[in-house]
Amino acid sequence: PHPNFQSLPHRPPIVTIMGHVDHGKTTLLDTLRSSSVAKGEAGGITQHIGAFSVPVLGRDDEDGPRSITFLDTPGHAAFSAMRARGADVTDIVILVVAADDGIMPQTKEVINLLRKEDSKIQLIVAINKIDKPGANPESIKKALLAEGIQLEEYGGDIPAVLVSGLTGEGLPELVETISAVAEIQELRAEQDGPVYGHVLESNFHKGLGPVATVLVQRGCLKVGTRIISGLCQGKVRRMTDSNGKAVHSALPGMAVTVSGWKALPKAGDDVLQGSEGDIKRALSNRAKKAEIENLQDDIDAINLA
Ligand code: GTP
Ligand code: NA
Ligand code: MG
Repeated sequence: PHPNFQSLPHRPPIVTIMGHVDHGKTTLLDTLRSSSVAKGEAGGITQHIGAFSVPVLGRDDEDGPRSITFLDTPGHAAFSAMRARGADVTDIVILVVAADDGIMPQTKEVINLLRKEDSKIQLIVAINKIDKPGANPESIKKALLAEGIQLEEYGGDIPAVLVSGLTGEGLPELVETISAVAEIQELRAEQDGPVYGHVLESNFHKGLGPVATVLVQRGCLKVGTRIISGLCQGKVRRMTDSNGKAVHSALPGMAVTVSGWKALPKAGDDVLQGSEGDIKRALSNRAKKAEIENLQDDIDAINLA
């Protein structure tokens, strides 16, 4: 822990949406995203980068977050990979449950995932599809209680918000609930010092070569910063935010698409800043370790020059 934690700047909460098949995760994210894009600059067309940012309006005080970073569906793969290694990037999980359905296998999976260890992740339940004639939010709440989910209105600490991803009903309350939870979580991060983050997803881009969406968790990632992720090194050449806008720097809580890699980083791997020498040594050490582990094929693909 930082000796002067209370003096560090706030960072946006990182939110992942999970839940059973067809309970409306994508629709919810799309509606949140399109309403935030509409409120943003003209012509700001959101490209897919595995994460997007929603501004929290009407918050002029210093205590709450100014924006929320949502991890998109492909973020799930990275989420699982990171959870498997005990690296929590998520502060809040929104569990989506369709009000016309019930607690299904993947709903239970999420509940069990969050029950594990001494996780600091805060759960928020979004009871979705309340616009549907067959919606029965009260029965969903009872079923959640039966699963051991201590809802706020029954004396617990887990908020439940009624929403419709289709009509947008309840989404302002959901955003308000996220921001209230984040305020309690005291999410702060150092903006000075070396960069630390994680790869959310990566792919080959025809013009730019290997490209990775990086969630910055500490420090300030800048164009020109030398970074290492797994067995890949890079020097940030170009960065774009979740609106596809070129940016020169990214602060903690921001997800940016980064080009300038010599190889393709893996989703879920961490990202560290270093000097040219540090990174060379780290790469050589990691390569040796990989060799010992008999990962010769991987090593051959790496340009160590
Ligand atoms: P998977 O990614 O396949 O797990 O599904 P998902 O959870 O992302 O669900 P998705 O958003 O694809 O929605 C599934 C279906 O439910 C689609 O036909 C949506 O139009 C519908 N749907 C989602 N949200 C709502 C809602 O709030 N109200 C109504 N009436 N329909 C909804
Ligand atoms: Na679906
Ligand atoms: Mg989906």
